[in-house]
Amino acid sequence: MTMHLLPQPNTVRRGPPLKLGASVNVVDGTVSPRLRRAVGWLPPLGLRFAFAIAEAPRDAPALDDSYAYWLRFAENSASVQADTEWGALAALATLAQLATGDALNVAEVRDAPQFPWRGLMLDTARHFLSTAAIKRTLDAMWFYKLNVLHLHLTDDQGFRVCFEAHPELASADAYTVSELRDLVAYAADRGIRVVPELDVPGHTTSWLAAHPEWAFPCEGQAARAPQLRALSCERHVAPSRRFGVHRTCIDPRNPQLLAAVDALFGELADVFPDRFLHFGGDEATALDAATQAVFNARLARLLTELGKRPLGWDECLHPDLPAGTTVQAWRGVAARDAALQAGFDCVVSAPYYLDLFFPASAYAVAPTASAAEVAAASDDPRLAHVRQGIDWMAGFANVPTLPACGREAGKVLGGEACMWSELVAEDLLDTRVWSRMPAIAAQFWGEATDASDLLSRIDDTRYALARLGVVAEDRAVLDAYPDLAPLIEMLEPVKWYRRLLGETAFRARVSGLGSGDEERPYDVESPLDRIVDRIAPESLASRRAEADLARGVDMTQWIAGWRAQREALDDHPELLPELRDVSDALLAIADLVAGSGDANPTDLAGPFGEYLLPIAYALDGR
Ligand code: ACM
Repeated sequence: MTMHLLPQPNTVRRGPPLKLGASVNVVDGTVSPRLRRAVGWLPPLGLRFAFAIAEAPRDAPALDDSYAYWLRFAENSASVQADTEWGALAALATLAQLATGDALNVAEVRDAPQFPWRGLMLDTARHFLSTAAIKRTLDAMWFYKLNVLHLHLTDDQGFRVCFEAHPELASADAYTVSELRDLVAYAADRGIRVVPELDVPGHTTSWLAAHPEWAFPCEGQAARAPQLRALSCERHVAPSRRFGVHRTCIDPRNPQLLAAVDALFGELADVFPDRFLHFGGDEATALDAATQAVFNARLARLLTELGKRPLGWDECLHPDLPAGTTVQAWRGVAARDAALQAGFDCVVSAPYYLDLFFPASAYAVAPTASAAEVAAASDDPRLAHVRQGIDWMAGFANVPTLPACGREAGKVLGGEACMWSELVAEDLLDTRVWSRMPAIAAQFWGEATDASDLLSRIDDTRYALARLGVVAEDRAVLDAYPDLAPLIEMLEPVKWYRRLLGETAFRARVSGLGSGDEERPYDVESPLDRIVDRIAPESLASRRAEADLARGVDMTQWIAGWRAQREALDDHPELLPELRDVSDALLAIADLVAGSGDANPTDLAGPFGEYLLPIAYALDGR
């Protein structure tokens, strides 16, 4: 029997099928209100629960807390033994995954994670996310045993908190302090810490809408880079609409700005009880390294005085960065290794950028993986059209060699996937995240992944998650165009930053010759309502067809669908400009598979505009 489990627990001992029913589950003995609520999330199985938790309940989890658990079954009873409530919640997540299988024939599960930091970052700035969407995400995080939600709360395009100290900074869509406190409590009920980020000093043009006097003066920049004069003097009367690195930012030498930063971080520290607090620190291109380093060091000291552990993106690496700062490595594993060697603990994000539209297998690498292992995971034909971009990125971290100063090497605390939301409006969030995030969750838990069954376990567990009523597969586009389903289900969006940058900016980026200001196809107001927005980054139908081809299964049904879609497309003239080429290619693939075509499969994969047709790779070399 398939175990339907992801992450796969450390040890699972099978047993006879349990005697389950559909009656309500009951808890024997006393149990904390939190665990009683969590038992209520499970489907009715007629199970009797007994909990033995060593430590008293706490308000919220902390980095070093145990998530180990021992789950045993007999007849119709489940006993859960754990050090903490968080471990018991992990046991219930395992049970929630098991409960949707055909038969529950498990005697015991013993399990503990490898990494204490198993995170997901949501970018609430580029597109605002309602608290309902964040809560749904927290539900699914519990299910996959993720335990850190990092909220990226401010960026050039939005300032998403209404702070008491500076309410004038808040964008029209912003969280109130009480909404954020409620999210923290909701997360704790799922064993999840919430780490907030105010990204400073770069990515701050949204601040300048209310306070243009806080801007870094353009004369300084113009002197350093005269060709940027026009942009750097841009006045920001409203949060920016455009994406990409901005050349203006707050002036970290301005005393009024510094007073505001202190007040804002003070309030943030009060609202979020977690020890870690993120100060951003990435891509502050307006500033020279020394100015930023002085600002970062000042902020890190402030956070430490507030009882917090400062956390910053890896650009904060500098000889003056205070010891005890944690570094979030996003610019390749070189940044991670530089930070560790200099004695800083690390949260690893470089291989886990969900906005790159990679398939699940490309993310299935451990936070401690070598550069060669990360490169091997992305050695996939469906990434060939952006190979130049991937190679460019592998070399783009210009990480300084830092003195270790006799400090011990830092530790990899774990990893964190990043869902940057330039192309993710709230209604697209579930598909973008949960199509690949389970593969990453398995790495953070530290399972020995068997790559061959990863996709089927993602599929199985997502089905279980939908049955729990958390996040369902998005079928909106298939339901809107049922006659085009055989085409739409085979499509994938182009990878890496091809969509976000568009053709011109992509070429400029990978050639290294661009200014960074090339025209891009999307801004914050672009509607994200096309087929390319709704489809999953990885087509499971394409993977199924690929497997059928490899096993020599009769392809008649596939071929019929791939032929019918081309005629059906003519009934949707509004879609022809976007889909005609890829539809023609799928028709040619049908002919090839039927043995009648003579097209070259390598010409049929695309890209066709923003679409790929990955089934073509399965025909290559046949
Ligand atoms: C980042 O992606 N700029 C952290």
